[in-house]
Amino acid sequence: MAMHYLTGLEFSPAETESLIDLAIRTKQQPEAFATALKGHSFALLFEKPSLRTRVSFEVGITRLGGHSLYIDHKDERIGVREATKDYAKNLSVWVQGIVARVYQHSTLTDLAQFASVPVVNALCEQLHPCQALADFVTIKEAFGQIKGIRLGYVGDGNNVSHSLLLLGAMLGAQVTVATPAGRGPKAQWVEQAQVLAAAHGGSIKLISKISEMGQQDVLYTDTWLSMGCAGTLAELQPQFAPFQLNETLLVQTGAQYAMHCQPAHRDLEISGAVMDSKLCLALPQAENRLHAQNALLLKLFNKA
Ligand code: CP
Ligand code: NVA
Repeated sequence: MAMHYLTGLEFSPAETESLIDLAIRTKQQPEAFATALKGHSFALLFEKPSLRTRVSFEVGITRLGGHSLYIDHKDERIGVREATKDYAKNLSVWVQGIVARVYQHSTLTDLAQFASVPVVNALCEQLHPCQALADFVTIKEAFGQIKGIRLGYVGDGNNVSHSLLLLGAMLGAQVTVATPAGRGPKAQWVEQAQVLAAAHGGSIKLISKISEMGQQDVLYTDTWLSMGCAGTLAELQPQFAPFQLNETLLVQTGAQYAMHCQPAHRDLEISGAVMDSKLCLALPQAENRLHAQNALLLKLFNKA
């Protein structure tokens, strides 16, 4: 049966750590993997817009000797023209892997149920595991380790926060999530993260007062309004403004670095000054998407 990557929990903590090390290796020695996926074609399905995910998968797959095709589902969601079951079975006849960005996590589980090839989550409303994988590659490069690193996430309790909680917990990081009251991460993912943290030496803390953030090694934020969510950034600004990642918060927490998965909204969830500062890891994070995903594909196809 094909192995999938829908939540990030498909790989054990030890396997995830080795994926991170493989990503760093593929970045340092790309020539060693230049033909690893020769003869492999990938369907990249997007129900939502993307820059980083689309480009990093397309370029990354090319660098592994494979081929990808972008299938635009922004106007018509997967499962509308034909049943997801038939769609997944047809795709499996031609391609060796499916990468999908969807509105509903259930679309991914349906694809995975009926496809005979690996399915990778390229973001859904619940999770963004490829992002978190690249972010922990970036943290390992910055600090030389992940275990014990204090990662403070500020903003909305969204898909990115869930994946940071899950992977951070399994890798032994100390993750604090600060959100306005009522905007915290979903209990389902927090509970799973707590179990993982207890087993692997990590810790999870949720707060709704930014003054309780304490000392951190790195601060992370993401948009206050994720794709597919109702409302406007202008409406959210009064509630979220105290959670902005800015120079004051970096000084208050002693954090050495700022992170953002992008796209960023300058002077909303992150100040323009922090985005442009040397402490900001947003570009290395974007670059590492390619290497993290290539490591993932190599593992899914037993090529490393
Ligand atoms: N971080 C990220 O997934 O960016 P895109 O939405 O541009 O793919
Ligand atoms: N939380 C954001 C992440 C974008 C990469 C969203 O889902 O829109």
